[in-house]
Amino acid sequence: MEFSTSTTTTLQTLKTQALAVGIFQDGILSPAADVLDQASGGAIRAVVQSEFDAVPGAILTLHNPAGVTADRIILLGLGRQDSLTAATLAKAHQAFAAYCVRAGVGTAASALCALNVHDANLADCARTTARLVSAAVYRYDRTFSQAKPAVKLRSFVLHLSRAQAAQAKTALAQGAAIGAGVNLARLLGDLPPNLCTPTYLGQTARDLAKQFKTLKAEVLDRKKIEALKMGSFLSVAQGSVEPPAFIVLRHTPSAPAARKAAPIVLVGKGITFDAGGISLKPGPGMDEMKYDMCGAASVLGTMRTVAELDLQREIIAIVPSCENLPSGTALKPGDIVTSMSGQTIEILNTDAEGRLILCDALTYAERFKPAAVIDVATLTGACVIALGHVNSGLFSQDDTLADELLAAGRQAQDPAWRMPLEDAYQDLLKSNFADMANIGGRPAGSISAACFLSRFTGKYRWAHLDVAGTAWLEGKQKGATGRPVPLLTQFLLGQCSA
Ligand code: BES
Ligand code: MN
Ligand code: ZN
Repeated sequence: MEFSTSTTTTLQTLKTQALAVGIFQDGILSPAADVLDQASGGAIRAVVQSEFDAVPGAILTLHNPAGVTADRIILLGLGRQDSLTAATLAKAHQAFAAYCVRAGVGTAASALCALNVHDANLADCARTTARLVSAAVYRYDRTFSQAKPAVKLRSFVLHLSRAQAAQAKTALAQGAAIGAGVNLARLLGDLPPNLCTPTYLGQTARDLAKQFKTLKAEVLDRKKIEALKMGSFLSVAQGSVEPPAFIVLRHTPSAPAARKAAPIVLVGKGITFDAGGISLKPGPGMDEMKYDMCGAASVLGTMRTVAELDLQREIIAIVPSCENLPSGTALKPGDIVTSMSGQTIEILNTDAEGRLILCDALTYAERFKPAAVIDVATLTGACVIALGHVNSGLFSQDDTLADELLAAGRQAQDPAWRMPLEDAYQDLLKSNFADMANIGGRPAGSISAACFLSRFTGKYRWAHLDVAGTAWLEGKQKGATGRPVPLLTQFLLGQCSA
C-alpha cells in the first residue's frame, strides 16, 4: 500500500477509481462534497436528499459521475456535523476501505481528513486512516488449497490543504507501519495452532531480526529456561510434547544518543493453544483458544512497527510461549511450583496458565532495568464479561503510566478502560500451602489475575493489558484484530518525543 497526499484545488479533476467525501446528517455536504456537487450539476445533493441517511458508517456509491474525473464518488455518512469525532472518521474510512477491497478498486482517495474534528488533530486522523486502510487489505490465505484472489487496492491518497499535507506526511508513514504490525499480529493469531507453535513464534522473531537491522532476536529453549529456574513457566509447558520457547526481541535505535534512556519492555502471553490442561475447557468453541497467543502476536507486531519506524528508544519484547494441554506429564491441581522469583504457587486450576508463564517473564524483565514494563495477555474470560469487545482492560498501580496508556488508546482508536487493582483484592490469592494460589475465584476474576502478576513487578513501573475481549472477533467474522498494536505503538511514539 502506498499513501500520499494531494492538494489540488480542483477536486473534480483528481484521477482515482474511488473518491470519498463526507456527508453530514440533515443533508449537509462537507466542503469537498459541495465542490463535487457543483462540478456534477447537483448530482450529490439530489441523491443525498432522495436516498442517503448520513449516519456514521453509511456508504453510497455514485458510478461515472458527470463532470468529475474520478470513476466513482463514494458518499460516507458522518452523523451530525457539530459532533464529528475521530472515531466517526475512522468508522467511515473503515467502511470505505472495505468497499474498495470488495469492489476490486486499485486506487482510492479521501477528502475526509481535511475536516476538523474536535477530539483529535490532523496527524492522528491521518495515522489512523493509513492504519485502517493498511489493515483492510489483510486477507488470511495461508491454509486454503486454492489461492485467494489478490487484493487490488495499492494506492490511497488523502486530499488535504497544502498546510495540512505537510503535517500529515510523517503520520501517514507511521500509520502504514502500524498497519503492517497489526497485520502481522493478525496473521499469527489466525494461523492454526498446529502451524503457529512456540517454535514458529521464535522463528518469526528471528525473521523480523533478519528483515530489520535494529532488531536482535534470542530464543531460549527448554534447557536454557530450566537454567533460569523458570519453574512456573515450565510447569505449564510440561504437559505438551511441543517444545516451549522463551523469546527476547530487542530494538536498538540507530542513533546512539537514543540508547541512553532505560528501555521499555513489552511482555506478551504466547500460549499457542489453551485446552485448559487437566482443568480441561469445555469442547464448544475451544478452537478459539488458538488465539491465546494474541498478546505475543501483538508484541511481535508492535516490534515490527517499532523497527520499521526506527523509533528512537530502546524497546524489548519478551514472549514466553508454550501449549497448555492435558497429558500424563501435565501440571495437576494441587501441585505447588516455584517461580523464577522464588515465590511458590499452589495450582488450584491449570486453566489459569497465562499468569504462570507471564510471572517468570516479568521476573526476567528485571535484568533490563526498564523504565516501564507492559504485559499484554488474553488472560481472563472475566475481562470479556466486564468490558465486552470494545475496551481492553488496563491494570496498573502507576497512575501516570495508566493515563499515558489510556490516552494512547484513545488517540489511536484502540481504546482501553482502567480497572481497579488495589491491595484489598490481593487476599483473594491466599493459599494454605504456598505463597499464593494461582486463582482467586469467580468474583473479580480479571482483577485477581492482575493481582497475581503484580506480585512479580515490584522492581519497576508496570501495567497489564487484558485483551481477552479485544484481540479477536468471534462468529461469522472470526479473525484476529491485531489489537492492541495501535495502542502500544502510539504509547511508544509518545515515549520517544518525551
Ligand atoms: N486464555 C484463557 C482466558 C480466555 C478465556 C480468554 C476465554 C478469552 C476467552 C485463560 O487462560 C483462562 O483460561 N482463564 C480462566 C481463568 C480461571 C480458571 C481463573 C478463565 O478466564 O476462565
Ligand atoms: Mn487457560
Ligand atoms: Zn489461556
